[in-house]
Amino acid sequence: MATFTLTVNGKKQAVDVDPNTPVLWVLRDHLNLVGTKFGCGMAQCGACTIHVDGVATRSCMLPVSSVGDQKVTTIEGLSEKGDHPVQKAWLEHDVPQCGYCQAGQIMNAAALLSETPNPTDEQIETAMNGNICRCGTYVRIKAAIKTASKNLNA
Ligand code: FES
Ligand code: FES
Repeated sequence: MATFTLTVNGKKQAVDVDPNTPVLWVLRDHLNLVGTKFGCGMAQCGACTIHVDGVATRSCMLPVSSVGDQKVTTIEGLSEKGDHPVQKAWLEHDVPQCGYCQAGQIMNAAALLSETPNPTDEQIETAMNGNICRCGTYVRIKAAIKTASKNLNA
């Protein structure tokens, strides 16, 4: 066990955990931030995607000891009122079905648009390719990303 101080959604939080503990479990079990989901636990599905210094990162394979001073953002911290352009576009397109994968999808899409505000279809497909949705909401995800991009660039 060791104490780690993480900056999560703008707040410093100290946790006492094994250094190998994946950030996913620190968020869910220690900080009660349960919006980030466990899917595969092997960095294969994207359900656990968060931002680390703005970069989309799979938290299920990220040891807490590797985070240091980097800023962690979860779906709870993406915007104050759930009104990030990606979240608004998600609502507009009624994207989720069961919803399980959607926090990861939104975090990945938000990271894509912050790096590439006006992505081509191909760039969207490449960036979102590893985020699995068992409900098959891919068409609506792509449409929502295009809407968010349009609104961001308006
Ligand atoms: S739970 Fe992390 S990628 Fe699947
Ligand atoms: S909405 Fe059900 S897994 Fe994606």
